[in-house]
Formats: sequence, C-alpha cells, structure tokens
Amino acid sequence: MTMREQIEAAAARYPDQRSAIMPALLIAQREHGHLPGPVLEEVADILGVERIWVYELATFYTLFHIEPVGMFHLQLCDNVSCMLRGSEELLRHLEEVLGINKDGTTPDGLFTLSTVECLGACEMAPVMQVGDDYHGNLDVARIDALLDSLRAMASEVESVEPAFARPPGE
Ligand code: FES
Repeated sequence: MTMREQIEAAAARYPDQRSAIMPALLIAQREHGHLPGPVLEEVADILGVERIWVYELATFYTLFHIEPVGMFHLQLCDNVSCMLRGSEELLRHLEEVLGINKDGTTPDGLFTLSTVECLGACEMAPVMQVGDDYHGNLDVARIDALLDSLRAMASEVESVEPAFARPPGE
C-alpha cells in the first residue's frame, strides 16, 4: 500500500481532516524515516489541509523528525524531576562519550542525541527514551551499559546505515 493509500485509509476514520494530521505524519515518517519539507507538503495535499497546519504539528512534537536521525534516537528527559536526579550530568556524559552535542548525530549514523520534555515516567527519573523503550533510574554506568548494548545490537545488523541513507519505505 502506498503512503497516499495508507494516509487516505487513516483519514477516512476522521470527520475533520485536521484530526488526521497526526496519524498521517506517523505514516509518512515510517515511510521516509523523517519528514522533510516535500513530504510535509505531500501530507497536506493528500489531506487537503493547509500546509502550515501540518508543519506546526510536525515541528511541535518531538516524536516527529524534520531532520534525519540515527539508528538509535536517544531522547533524554531534562524536565524537573529528571534534572533534579542528574540528567544534566548524563547529558554532558553522553555528549562526551558520543563526541556530539545535543541534537547531533554521530558520524556513523548510530546515535542522535536529544533532550525532551517530561516523558511521564518521573518515578524512575532520570529517564531516557530510545525508540519505543524507556530506560530509567539512569546513572553514568547504566548509560555506558546501554550504549554498549545498542552498539552490540547494531553490529548484528549486516550493515549499519543512518536512517537518512535508507531508501523510502525501509
Ligand atoms: Fe523526566 Fe518526568 S521529568 S520523566
């Protein structure tokens, strides 16, 4: 099923096409890996909504990526509970061991590092989301172990490619 067909099928469940923008963006991101301008315009055209509405949502929510991201998107919460429990130190450590700054991607395309607002898991602060998984009660040692396990996971993949190098649809 093409992206257009998927979006049209999802949009059919909503009486107002503006309500279908979020699911449409999720479909588009799954198809393209991220959401560059032409993809946002295509989503708007398929739904028949203003392009600015699509752009606003895509740039507001951290689950959408306007820029390409690495194989593992490290989303460290820097909201109050996590900050009080050491997220700033963890961010500095991640920047140091990965050799990138916040919002950067490692040259091998493995890791993109971001900070995000509260992940709703304050009871296990500090928390970092990687893909769909939450990792809590983090400290430097746990961060290092997590990075090692992610690298091991990546090495099991025959060739490691950044998300932006993948052809659409993969
Ligand atoms: Fe970090 Fe809530 S403040 S999960």
